[in-house]
Amino acid sequence: MPEHIKRLRAPDLIEKKKRGEKIVVLTAYDATMARIFDAAGVDCLLVGDSLGNVILGFDTTLPVTLEAMVHHTAAVSRGASRALVVADMPFLSYQVNTEEAVRNAGRLMRDGGAGAVKLEGGRPVLDAVRRMVEIGIPVMGHLGLLPQSVHQLGGYRRQATRGEDARKLIEDAVALEEAGAFALVLEMIPAEVAGEVTAKLRIPTIGIGAGPFCDGQVLVCYDMLGLSQGFVPSFVKRYADCGEQMRQAVERYAREVREGRFPTPPPQEAKA
Ligand code: KIV
Repeated sequence: MPEHIKRLRAPDLIEKKKRGEKIVVLTAYDATMARIFDAAGVDCLLVGDSLGNVILGFDTTLPVTLEAMVHHTAAVSRGASRALVVADMPFLSYQVNTEEAVRNAGRLMRDGGAGAVKLEGGRPVLDAVRRMVEIGIPVMGHLGLLPQSVHQLGGYRRQATRGEDARKLIEDAVALEEAGAFALVLEMIPAEVAGEVTAKLRIPTIGIGAGPFCDGQVLVCYDMLGLSQGFVPSFVKRYADCGEQMRQAVERYAREVREGRFPTPPPQEAKA
């Protein structure tokens, strides 16, 4: 890493909230994109288990393994110089018991080079969060729509829309902060609920489909760059149409190869 670049760490995001600075988070899955996003000034690169959908072609995040997460986290860590790299803990890597959760989080830090891990849920994961924080592993929480629970939730739906559910979510958010989480992703919940959580917590909230009152925002990079195929959530803003640009570039390449225009023929040698 160049010496003049200061790597952001978990406490820096809390400092940003204190200063009222918005936090920019984007998912990344490989070194090339990590390098580009880092150079663009993204504060935090989340190696999301959404890689199951956008990179590996699965319907859900459930088939993503710890090995896949370590592999992609290591690539992102190699590409990033300044951004904090947060690795998602995949399904079944932290839910079975605290000991396994800590060991798996440790692998994402030791072998993946992550600066923090993220896991989904509230009360059921508090013991794991406490233990990780106790031994020096920064943890980002994740409430609202929990993609790893899609089968139980009945689909990718907005959460905490009823008063009782919103109250539970706010209690979970406070409990995660008390357990030592340094930040909290809020996914697909009403903006007012996200605003209430944000006002209550000392740690920053990072919204995705949760309105403008969060301390930061995260998007799946393939969605905002126009690379995702099929369903894209309605809250996503598309900042580029890279998929279409790539298709056109590849079509031009194919045409030029077929027509013998690439590579360009060498200049005719001058006849003596
Ligand atoms: O896996 C992921 O990309 C995520 C974000 C949607 C927050 O968890």
